[in-house]
Amino acid sequence: MQVYLDNAATTIMDAQVIDEMTQTMKDIYGNPSAIHTNGRQAKAVVELARKSIAKILQCHSSEIIFTGSGTEADNMALRCAVNDLGVTHIITSTIEHKAVLDTAETLERKGLAKVSYVKLDVYGKADLKDLESLTKKHPGSLISLMHANNEIGSLNDVHAISQIARANQCYFHSDTVQTIGHYPIDLSNWDVDFVTCSAHKFHGPKGVGFMYKNKSVKINPILTGGGQESAMRAGTENVMGIIGLSKAFEIANARIEDKIKAIQDIKSYFIKQIGKKIIGTCFNGDISTEGGLYTVLNVSLPPSKKSSTLLFQLDINGIFVSGGSACNSGTVGSSHVLTGINHPNNRSVIRFSFSKFTTIQEVDYAIDTLRELI
Ligand SMILES: Cc1ncc(COP(=O)(O)O)c(C=O)c1O
Repeated sequence: MQVYLDNAATTIMDAQVIDEMTQTMKDIYGNPSAIHTNGRQAKAVVELARKSIAKILQCHSSEIIFTGSGTEADNMALRCAVNDLGVTHIITSTIEHKAVLDTAETLERKGLAKVSYVKLDVYGKADLKDLESLTKKHPGSLISLMHANNEIGSLNDVHAISQIARANQCYFHSDTVQTIGHYPIDLSNWDVDFVTCSAHKFHGPKGVGFMYKNKSVKINPILTGGGQESAMRAGTENVMGIIGLSKAFEIANARIEDKIKAIQDIKSYFIKQIGKKIIGTCFNGDISTEGGLYTVLNVSLPPSKKSSTLLFQLDINGIFVSGGSACNSGTVGSSHVLTGINHPNNRSVIRFSFSKFTTIQEVDYAIDTLRELI
């Protein structure tokens, strides 16, 4: 039996997405910048994809800039804020994805911006009082705080953060890579400057994403050398990737509430079963339905002699999970997120992450195998 419970790392591609991309590869071979019929066809499908995404997000299609990944989109938001918007201070948290953290640190090292880290509560959520005082101290900053944390699933209150940002003339970027395609997001109700997306987190292809940029914000491209993406990102478009992203996004948003409920039920079942079968289990992050991402469950296990090889042993048993973003070679490693929430280092941590393809049988098998192992 093979059980894939690493959906926060990436998801299995939807068959319909593969079909759509395959057809595009066969039929649409022109360069979207070419003026002949094949080129115009390619341009048309890219623009249709952009329109479809913008319609779902309730924004203008000119606000969607396709990128090569969520990482690139996050980089673009931070770097453009500093390069073009006069930002000299970034307010973020120590548990952001490395696409944000390393970029902020690089900008600081180069002397282009100072970085402040907001205090976090026990769940790893931004302390809004501290955020308020930081923005008062540094008006005009860029706030970069993720919507949901990819390791522990805790959700930040985007609306409250944007109010604090606006009250102090700050720009606001939210890394929504784990929530776009997972929640019905209506950007006409979100007062944000940048959000970011990665297709492979919702059954789309790897290597394609986008940055939403509010139309009031004027920035220049990071990648130069062509006028693509309305001169916001040079380089021939990844036509089939963009088609795959748009198809995956359309599927993800159809009957989204039913999917949320079904996956939340799987997660709740997992919480109940593991608590019953492995005594001493705790959970990191907010596991409430309203406060935590329904696809992610971060489990802190009681100390065991097997801790150091747990991921490897699970892998041998056909169970694919993560131990946090910093883990490698099948061992349970430490992670900057766990450090950020002061997780005790004598306990091992496994991140289980679910998708619409996860079944109760898979959950039972994973928990029973884990119990035997420890
Ligand atoms: C919160 C978050 N931000 C950014 C990224 C980076 O996305 P990509 O894999 O498309 O570079 C990820 C992927 O793990 C993520 O979880």
